[in-house]
Amino acid sequence: MTRRECLAAPALLGSEPLSIENDPLRPRYHFLPPRNWMNDPNGLIHHKGLYHLFYQYNPNGAYWGDMHWGHATSPDMVHWEHLPIALAPAPGGPDKDGVFSGCCRMHNGVPTIFYTGVSPETQNIILANDDLTSFRRFPGNPVIARPPEGLEVTAFRDPNVWQEGEDWMMAIGSGRKGGNGMVLLYRSRDLAHWEYLHPLAESARTEDGVIWECPNFLPLHPTSVLIVSADHPIRKPFYWTGEYENRRFEARKMGAIDDGGYCYAPQVFVDGKGRQILFGWIPEGRTVAAQKASGWAGAQSIPRILEVSPGGELLMRPIPEFEVLRGAEIREPAKLKGDSYEIEAEFAASGSSGLVLRASPDGRLRTVVRFDAATRRLSIDRTHSSANKDNEQDVRDTHISLAAAEPLRLRVFLDRSIVEVFANDRVVMTSRIYPPGECAGFEVIDPSSLRRFRAWPMRSAT
Ligand code: FRU
Repeated sequence: MTRRECLAAPALLGSEPLSIENDPLRPRYHFLPPRNWMNDPNGLIHHKGLYHLFYQYNPNGAYWGDMHWGHATSPDMVHWEHLPIALAPAPGGPDKDGVFSGCCRMHNGVPTIFYTGVSPETQNIILANDDLTSFRRFPGNPVIARPPEGLEVTAFRDPNVWQEGEDWMMAIGSGRKGGNGMVLLYRSRDLAHWEYLHPLAESARTEDGVIWECPNFLPLHPTSVLIVSADHPIRKPFYWTGEYENRRFEARKMGAIDDGGYCYAPQVFVDGKGRQILFGWIPEGRTVAAQKASGWAGAQSIPRILEVSPGGELLMRPIPEFEVLRGAEIREPAKLKGDSYEIEAEFAASGSSGLVLRASPDGRLRTVVRFDAATRRLSIDRTHSSANKDNEQDVRDTHISLAAAEPLRLRVFLDRSIVEVFANDRVVMTSRIYPPGECAGFEVIDPSSLRRFRAWPMRSAT
């Protein structure tokens, strides 16, 4: 193409060509790799003063496939340094078709990675050097070569490992063929030999998923937590809290990790301050063709601190570390606009209140976060988020129970195409929207119910 033809190309008129750097939809303070596809967070560990985030990564483009482990480190979980790809499929090995999800634990002072190699799905171990920059496959791989004898399963992947006295325990995501999701429990003394015990948990209802991927078991006292990502017919991460005794888990209370439809395969780890921290994969809500054209797909959620309430509910709060990105505080809603900000808003739980984000100058395009006090339903409406009907467009909603005088407390993180809404520390909705750049308008619905309001433009983390 000559320079003249290039200038005449309609898509380029009046603007720079679209690149990853100037893509107005690409998030600026959520973690993403420099380019290409990312899904699940993997191998989260705080080691020698640094957080290590590994992630499911396709080096060939912005679509799922050829799974590797990407790698980044951070001093604070906000600012990340990208490192070379950590793990790649080894030709002829048990992970020749992909290095699927897994975790990282310290074993005798050695960072030890447990993951699923495909195909078939087997459990494998890789040992890392002390900086987690070089990796050595365990000679005894696969350490678990097949599902338990006599059990017909639909999946056998995503090992989650913890220590119990002298034993190492492993939970593996699975499902009974023709049945429902389950998590299989194993035990080992030496990491090389694993004994199958029994299902740690099993779904009684098909609605709760026929495969349970990416289990996380937190054997806490007095209340333990199990998190799974249920696949098919729904696709959603759930938690159960309950008692764990004699290696049996008695689930008592169930809840959603996220009700927005865009947080999946979360992984939990204990950070440098002893906090239980959850990262989740934020998928895209646009077509694969659009992903490929943009050159990037997938982000990681704002890490959440998990705690169990006395009533057995899982409490989830964004880590305070992100406050370093806040710009000058805005107290008047009328002064807020843009595509990257954080809001703390409190509403009296009466009538129908909420926030309008990313509205176009004529108000026709808009994303609405709404709370209806009569029904106690919190919703995100993105039926008018973008004019492009190829982007996913719907209303998602969920129930939030509030005590008699309890106000609705929202923390909203807008990061261009990501909306993460935390409500009263116990309900989270993550969504994706793809409005054009001119959609920067903001509005409060029913300002008379607004009790408190603070907002901050967010700086880029890169
Ligand atoms: C969840 C998942 C895991 C698997 C990985 C493959 O999103 O399907 O079960 O290990 O992604 O990329």
